[in-house]
Amino acid sequence: MELAERATLLQPSPTLAIDTKAKQMKAVGEDVCNFGAGEPDFDTPEHIKAAAIAALNDGFTKYTPSSGIPELRQAIADKLFADNNIEYKPTQIIVSTGAKQACMNAILATCQTGDEVIIPAPYWVSYPEMVRLSGAEPVFVQTKESNNWKMTAADFADAMTPRTKMVIINSPCNPTGAVYTREELEAIVEVADEEGIIILSDEMYEKLVYDDVKAVSIASLSKAAYDLTITINGFSKAYAMTGWRLGYLAAPENIAKAIDSIQSHMTSNPTSFGQKGGLAALQGDQQCIADMRDEFNVRRDYVYGRISTMPNVTVTKPDGAFYVLVNIERTSLTSTNFADRLLSKQKVAVVPGIAFGNDKTIRISYATSLDVIKKGLDRLEDFLRSV
Ligand SMILES: Cc1ncc(COP(=O)(O)O)c(C=O)c1O
Repeated sequence: MELAERATLLQPSPTLAIDTKAKQMKAVGEDVCNFGAGEPDFDTPEHIKAAAIAALNDGFTKYTPSSGIPELRQAIADKLFADNNIEYKPTQIIVSTGAKQACMNAILATCQTGDEVIIPAPYWVSYPEMVRLSGAEPVFVQTKESNNWKMTAADFADAMTPRTKMVIINSPCNPTGAVYTREELEAIVEVADEEGIIILSDEMYEKLVYDDVKAVSIASLSKAAYDLTITINGFSKAYAMTGWRLGYLAAPENIAKAIDSIQSHMTSNPTSFGQKGGLAALQGDQQCIADMRDEFNVRRDYVYGRISTMPNVTVTKPDGAFYVLVNIERTSLTSTNFADRLLSKQKVAVVPGIAFGNDKTIRISYATSLDVIKKGLDRLEDFLRSV
């Protein structure tokens, strides 16, 4: 049976091979330290689970409006106003099956064959494939460790062609932990505004920022920024709700309307009782976020402190998310080779940077206990002494 061209264009995730191997090793009793996880290791807070359970018990088990229940869309609009200083009407909010679907919806609604989408690398693994699925072409801008893995406005301007339709900014960034400053974002908006380039602002990790760093929402910067930006956010990382599959976007009215239509034919509403959990997350005590962030912060300091003294690698202190990107260029190994050998020799699983568009790096997730982190980093250090 012949596949559609769009299916053949997609690359299988290079992270899967390592993950499968790590799981196989664990299954046969091997003591693997897994730094591959892309999700918080905490459980969803109790009050959020209780709200979903109550909704189920109340029989809240039917279809809801396709773009989300009105009270959740209102609560998201309130959150975006209070936390991010952006004013959206509930009709501009679409609640989806994870922020992943929100990103896909946004790209499908705006990009097509002939368009180019600028993606700073290292990037979240799904962006290029989503762009390809839409028929458009990803254009990568390699960022530099010396600029904390951030794309400058000049890099962006250089990558632009008459076909550029969108630029994707992910701050705080998976996999680099980089957080763009207000000034850096303003400069990027200025370039985008000159040519009317849509900005997909993925703010999934906005709550996980450390020290006095603040994540700035692009749509809050100016009227021009607001008109160009689709804001992506969700519940997975902030509230440890990855399995719930609940995320959202906020966009100018015409884009939100088109996405409403796309989603109504694709998946319809995200799970009914899950939405009640999302509502409880936004309306409940936000201390749970601060508690998780504090724990991540301790681990970040530890991981960064250790790796920055290790041989044959360099590392930049991440300002956000729960990842550390390690530059392995001095080892002369490809990222896949490095990750393979580290797993076989030392039983430490990391994600090879090739998955994120940079073969000279590996990603370490510190969404795991400090004990595992300590043991895994001891082993990483031994490995690095031997390469
Ligand atoms: C940068 C980024 N955006 C979006 C997502 C998707 O999140 P969700 O679990 O809500 O689909 C992820 C998940 O790993 C992510 O890292």
